Amino acid sequence: MANETQTNDVEAENPAADAWREALASRRTELAEPETVPTTQAAPIDVDASRRNFLRASFWTGLGVTIGGGVALFLDFFYPRNVKGFGGPVPAGNVADYPRGAPPVANSTGQFWIANLDPADDGGNGSGGADGLLALWRKCPHLGCTVPWKPDAGVEVSPETGWYQCPCHGSTYTKSGIRVFGPAPRSMDTMAIEIDDAGNITVQTGDVTSGGPDNPDRAVSHPLLPT
Ligand code: FES
Repeated sequence: MANETQTNDVEAENPAADAWREALASRRTELAEPETVPTTQAAPIDVDASRRNFLRASFWTGLGVTIGGGVALFLDFFYPRNVKGFGGPVPAGNVADYPRGAPPVANSTGQFWIANLDPADDGGNGSGGADGLLALWRKCPHLGCTVPWKPDAGVEVSPETGWYQCPCHGSTYTKSGIRVFGPAPRSMDTMAIEIDDAGNITVQTGDVTSGGPDNPDRAVSHPLLPT
């Protein structure tokens, strides 16, 4: 007990010890308060809304794919590809094959009549002033029967013979396809004609123009066409 009292007295009276304690205290590092990280409150997931959105997106996607596929099939089916024969270009020989004013020639592949019309042929069944090649669709504008050329046929209203005359209901047309008699609502339809430099003829059977009083104006002339 006496020793302990003695020690305390010595420390109390020792200034070096006090300085040492103060230096030690000054070097003590305050521990920083741990930084608290704010926690975000997770929003509750609306399961029904997610499912609705998913079903809606699936519906519209499926509908779009179905419609798009249908349109693609439609276009693919109807897109013309190298159409040969009727509906496309049909060769019709050379202009040298068609003497001026000769009877029309039938082309069964292209379903047309073709003739080199003479503008001087001004009879009732004549060319109507047409000068050159004219292709007439054989399909009657009335109900679609095939119209033949009848070189010996006549009509009461005209002394000439040689008419296009429909066997179904008697519609009658001139050499340029102008309707002069019968129930047909218009003249015979025409098809576009192309002639190359060598005089080779192509009839575009897919390029049809409704018949009318201007049929003679649609005749195509060419330098090599017989006159
Ligand atoms: S189908 Fe030609 S006149 Fe009727």
